[in-house]
Amino acid sequence: MTLFDSHCHLHFRQFDNDREEIIKKLRDFNIKIINVGTDFKESEKAVALAKQYPDLMWASVGLHPNDNLEENFDINKYRELAKLQNVVAIGECGLDYFRSPSETEIKRQKEIFVKQIGLAKELKKPLILHCRPPKGSQDAYEDAIEILKYENFNISTGNGVAHFFSDLKETAKKFLELGFYISFAGPITFAPEYKEIVEFVPMNRILIETDAPFAAPAPHRGRRNEPAYVEFVAHKIAEWKRLSIEEVAEQTTKNTLRLFQIK
Ligand code: NI
Repeated sequence: MTLFDSHCHLHFRQFDNDREEIIKKLRDFNIKIINVGTDFKESEKAVALAKQYPDLMWASVGLHPNDNLEENFDINKYRELAKLQNVVAIGECGLDYFRSPSETEIKRQKEIFVKQIGLAKELKKPLILHCRPPKGSQDAYEDAIEILKYENFNISTGNGVAHFFSDLKETAKKFLELGFYISFAGPITFAPEYKEIVEFVPMNRILIETDAPFAAPAPHRGRRNEPAYVEFVAHKIAEWKRLSIEEVAEQTTKNTLRLFQIK
């Protein structure tokens, strides 16, 4: 059984002291991962780490909407990085309205998102989409869908995944129509309100992830997350979908390989 953590940040400094041990666990438990970049420097680190373990890891390069407000998105630099063989996606990019950004900041978020959509189309790589609305609102997702449509990003021009999905069925439906996959993370293990959406998304469009070092699943909630904990996400999906863990592992791994064109 292979599990694929489709979104984590093992290159982050939170793993500097014990990265080797964590990678050993990946081998022991047969877990593969995608290291996701959040700005240019972190994207370079994600790629460099993946390069050392070509049988276990791949990388994505991109600029997160609000992790690094100092960086100006330089498409030429990202293009060079994205052309490397182990880079399988563009992102994480998108819209983050969680901390009520100013109009100017929203404008910047939208501009860098559009540039990354363009790069994904140009290089024919999938997008890793990060959307985070403030509590009780769906506008980050709605704006992102509107932009994807406006930029003509759909199943015939590109593909992607809505990472750390935390919205309603109606929104998931719109992403599925665009051809997107939906990725579930740790919170599904302790928040029963995810049951309906997990039941709704068809098995052939679900990815699993940890977003480590963040958002650890139960029973590790509140502590540092790591890719091996993707198992708990898979278990919850198995429970809600009434499948075996092996079936969930097989299908979500297949989906990940298909979306990211990993041979
Ligand atoms: Ni992330």
